[in-house]
Amino acid sequence: MKKRLKRMLAEVLPEHVLSDVYNSYDIVGDIAIIRLTKETLQFGEKIAETIMKIHRNVQTVLAQTSPVHGDFRTRKLEHVAGENKTVTLHKESRCLFSVDVEKCYFSPRLSFERMRVAKQVRDGEVIVNMFAGVGCFSIVIAKNSNAEKIYSIDINPAAVEYMKENVRLNRVYGRVIPILGDAKEIILQRLSGKAERVLMPLPEKAYEYLPYAISTFKNQRGVVHYYNFEHAKKGEDPVEKVKLKVIKKLEELNVGYKFLFGRVVRTTGPNWHQVVLDIKING
Ligand SMILES: C[S@@+](CC[C@H](N)C(=O)[O-])C[C@H]1O[C@@H](n2cnc3c(N)ncnc32)[C@H](O)[C@@H]1O
Repeated sequence: MKKRLKRMLAEVLPEHVLSDVYNSYDIVGDIAIIRLTKETLQFGEKIAETIMKIHRNVQTVLAQTSPVHGDFRTRKLEHVAGENKTVTLHKESRCLFSVDVEKCYFSPRLSFERMRVAKQVRDGEVIVNMFAGVGCFSIVIAKNSNAEKIYSIDINPAAVEYMKENVRLNRVYGRVIPILGDAKEIILQRLSGKAERVLMPLPEKAYEYLPYAISTFKNQRGVVHYYNFEHAKKGEDPVEKVKLKVIKKLEELNVGYKFLFGRVVRTTGPNWHQVVLDIKING
């Protein structure tokens, strides 16, 4: 696809700007999200039209004009071509997600990771998703396992409204429970000692919130899916670097633990990686 994009762009763009075009972009439902550089800004429409030719289902092209930021992990978007909208319906792993890509966090790049976690869930499990967004991890788990309940917390009111809609769209009523609030407070108020598994898909807060994740477990036993960002120079292993930090925290908390699995989920910048650790807590 990247080669095809470059080949088609070569027909409509001056040669000197071709190397400045980002050849990766996200498609969420029928919306493509691209990034433009100083050099490619004036060619936004041509790039957008080319993407719409390659992906016949894409109706809208938006340009990301800020990094993902703030507590809600959202980004600024500008309309480039097609229908001017930010709400779409995205299909993934037999699930449907309604999402406003400007008001809520959403990444199609985590689809493999969502299924990887879903496959580990045993019948009857109670799960807490501390940073649930529009409910993607929770709904993929509900539709692909026999989990009993997935308490799904998010601090962004818009994300929780879309999560409620997604619960309806995917008919997982009573199994995925959307909850608006700060994960720390919600856990202290109503989820302590309830779960067998916890998801922490917010790298920026995972370290700080790890004690609250552990407090959701029945008898302090369960599995945490812990996400973090890590910098790793050539020759360094980002997974091992995250492990060392987590060990320090777990030892301070005086809990037994075993690392079940770790991997780089995706690379997020030069030498920056998103890492997941599956950690078994043993009381
Ligand atoms: C990186 S997004 C992940 C969303 C979702 N799990 C997904 O993969 O699409 C992190 C989410 O955590 C939410 N969030 C940030 N701080 C929070 C907090 N203290 N408690 C609960 N949710 C929080 C944000 O609103 C955002 O939707």
